[in-house]
Amino acid sequence: MRRFATGKIEDDAADRLLDCVSYVNGGADDSATYQKLDRVLARVEQARDTRRNRLFYLATPPASFAPIGRHLGQSGLAREENGAWRRIIIEKPFGTDLASAQALNRELLGLLEEHQIYRIDHYLGKETVQNILVLRFANGLFEPIWNRDHIDHVQITVAETLTVGRRGRFYDATGALRDMVPNHLFQLLSLVAMEPPSRFEAHAVRSEKAEALDAIHVPNEAAALQDSVRAQYVAARVGNNEVEDYRGTADVRPDSTTETYVALKLMIDNWRWAGVPFYLRTGKALKSRRTEVSIKFKQAPFAMFRDTPVDQLAENFLVMSIQPDECIGLQFNAKVPGPVIAISGVGMTFKYQDYFDAAPSTGYETLIYDCMIGDAILFQRADEIEAGWRVVQPFLDAWRNVGPSGLAVYKAGSEGPAEADQLLARDVRRWRPIA
Ligand code: BG6
Repeated sequence: MRRFATGKIEDDAADRLLDCVSYVNGGADDSATYQKLDRVLARVEQARDTRRNRLFYLATPPASFAPIGRHLGQSGLAREENGAWRRIIIEKPFGTDLASAQALNRELLGLLEEHQIYRIDHYLGKETVQNILVLRFANGLFEPIWNRDHIDHVQITVAETLTVGRRGRFYDATGALRDMVPNHLFQLLSLVAMEPPSRFEAHAVRSEKAEALDAIHVPNEAAALQDSVRAQYVAARVGNNEVEDYRGTADVRPDSTTETYVALKLMIDNWRWAGVPFYLRTGKALKSRRTEVSIKFKQAPFAMFRDTPVDQLAENFLVMSIQPDECIGLQFNAKVPGPVIAISGVGMTFKYQDYFDAAPSTGYETLIYDCMIGDAILFQRADEIEAGWRVVQPFLDAWRNVGPSGLAVYKAGSEGPAEADQLLARDVRRWRPIA
C-alpha cells in the first residue's frame, strides 16, 4: 500500500482495512480450495455484516479464469440468493483469439449470468477515455460533423516507452496486437465510432459499442497483410536508458517473431463511417509515452487562398489526449497579423488540470467501485469481446501463415518502423508525431 497508493495513507484507515483481510491458500482447480473459501467467507460475512454480497476478482493467470469460474459456479459460492449479489471481475486477456474467447464466454455463461460477469479493461476507468462520450454526446457542437462528410480519417495511438521488461514469458506468447488492440485500442475506437445511445446506462451504451465493433470490416488474410504492419524493437536508447534487442529480453525466444509494435488500417462499414479509415498503432520502447485519439477533419477547399502555399495550411485535428497530458486540443488556421494574407496553424487546448482538481488514478479505483455498486457501463459484455476478436483474427492468421517474413524492425526510442509511415503515405496521409 505504502509503495503504490496514489494518495496519502491514513494509518487509522489502513489499520481498519488490514483488519478486514483474510488469506486462503489453495489450488485454483481444487474443490477443497472452494470449501475452505466457503468456510472463511461464512465467518467474514457474519463478523462484518456484508449482507452476503461477494465480489470475486480474478487477478490470476488467464488459464485459471475458466477453472475458477467453474468452481465458483458449481460450488454455489457465486450463486445469487436472498437478495445478495455475487459478481466476478475477470482481468484481461479474455482469450487469446476468437475461438478461445468464445469458449471462455460459453463456459462462464453456462455457470453464471452475464450480469454477474465484469470483464475489466482499465482503459475504461480513465477519466479522459470516459470524457470521449461526454464530449460527443453532451455537446451539440460535434455530433453534426462527426461523420464521413466532415471527417477525413481517425488516428488512435498508444505509444509506450516501456519495454517488455520482466514480462518476457507472457509477452512473447502474446504480442502487441493481442495485448493492446482488441481491448484498449478497440475501447477507444468504439467510443469514437458508436452511435448515440438512447440512455446512459449499461445495456444501451454497451449495445452501441458492440454495434460499432461489429461494423468494422473483417478483412481476408491478403487484405490483412496489406493493411497491417508488425515490428519488433532493436537495441538503442529510449531517453537516457539503453535498451537491448527485444530478442535479448529474459524469457523471450532468441528467434522470436512476436511483434512489439503494430499498426492497422481499419474501415467501418456503416453509413456514418464508410470511406473513413481508422489508423491504429501501438508499440513498446517508443520515443515517448503518448495515448491519443485524433480526428482529422477534411481540408477546406483552397480556391480562395490560391496564392497561399497549401502545405502551410494546418490540418484540422481534434486531438483527445489521454496520457500523459489529459487534454483536448483543436488545431485550425488563423491569419498571421500583417498587411498581407498569411495563414498559420494555431491551437486551442483544454487541459483537465486547469479546470478540475482530480487526483491521478489508474482507472482501477473507479472500476472496482462500479462493480461494487453494480454499474456495468464501463465493463465489456460478451458480444463486445467477441466482436473485437473477430476483427483481429485474420491479422493473427495471416501473420502466422507468412511466418517471419513481413516482420519489420524499429529502433528503440524511435517513432516506430518506416513501414508504418508507408501505410499512411500510401493514402497520402501521415501520422501525427509521437513526441
Ligand atoms: C496492459 C498491457 O493491459 O496495459 C501492458 O498488458 C501495457 O502491456 C498497459 O503496458 C498499458 O496501460 P497504461 O494504462 O499504462 O496505458
